[in-house]
Amino acid sequence: MTRPLLEIDALHMRFQGIVALDDVSFSLDEGKVTALIGPNGAGKTTMFNCVTGMYRPTDGAIRFAGETITGLKAHRIARHGIARTFQNLALFSGLTVLQNLLVGAYLKGSSGLLQGMFRTGATRTEEAEAEAQAREILAYLGLDDVADAKPSQLPYGQQKRIEFGRALMQKAKLILLDEPMAGMSKTEKAAMTALIQRVRAEMGMTFLIVEHDIPVIMDVSDKIVVLDFGRKIADGDPRAVRSDPAVIAAYLGTDE
Ligand SMILES: Nc1ncnc2c1ncn2[C@@H]1O[C@H](COP(=O)(O)OP(=O)(O)O)[C@@H](O)[C@H]1O
Ligand SMILES: [Mg+2]
Repeated sequence: MTRPLLEIDALHMRFQGIVALDDVSFSLDEGKVTALIGPNGAGKTTMFNCVTGMYRPTDGAIRFAGETITGLKAHRIARHGIARTFQNLALFSGLTVLQNLLVGAYLKGSSGLLQGMFRTGATRTEEAEAEAQAREILAYLGLDDVADAKPSQLPYGQQKRIEFGRALMQKAKLILLDEPMAGMSKTEKAAMTALIQRVRAEMGMTFLIVEHDIPVIMDVSDKIVVLDFGRKIADGDPRAVRSDPAVIAAYLGTDE
């Protein structure tokens, strides 16, 4: 039996005149991959911003592992165990690949990491542990040979994997991926799909993924939630959603 890890309950998000999310409810089962799809402007990134505390929802509730997290600050939500990647890469260009992963340990809430000011014994131990963990994740992601490179020197697909690695460093229970395959080649997409499946199988990770590539979504998801103009128009098994007339009309169009 699975239980919902994340529950979105009648969420509303309004900006001045725009209703970006209108009474949206759905839940994520633990250890499953859920896709959030819909046309541009449907409210997908806004949903991510509400869940991660970057926006405070106008109305409604968000519960994570049974606790209400609605309106908490982003760093507190991160500490509950929710990590994300961004639609536009958000890596630190001045830092190496390894250092970018260490930022994830900081986001998780380790005390002295990255402060570098007061190097007490405790922070040194924490730093050493975090670095060992970062190197382990880099090896897992097949990035160990580029640990000391700057992200901008690397192909786009590798940069996306670094961001994924930073989310793994946070020891999150839920990872939100915002268009993880956008701009990727077919090979890079296949590698990212395999990575998501492996992390799910080996770590029991729960994912919420925004992605436009429908074949990829059909391949990787256990469930699909569809938004259109801020409203949920479908929610369920991928095959059922794929053939839902309302979804086809709003988003999928006819098969080419
Ligand atoms: N910070 C903001 N201020 C005003 N409007 C916003 C803001 N963020 C998102 N929106 C609006 O909310 C709607 C949904 O946007 P978004 O969540 O980015 O869509 P999607 O990710 O599905 O393409 C759009 O109309 C967008 O312009
Ligand atoms: Mg978006």
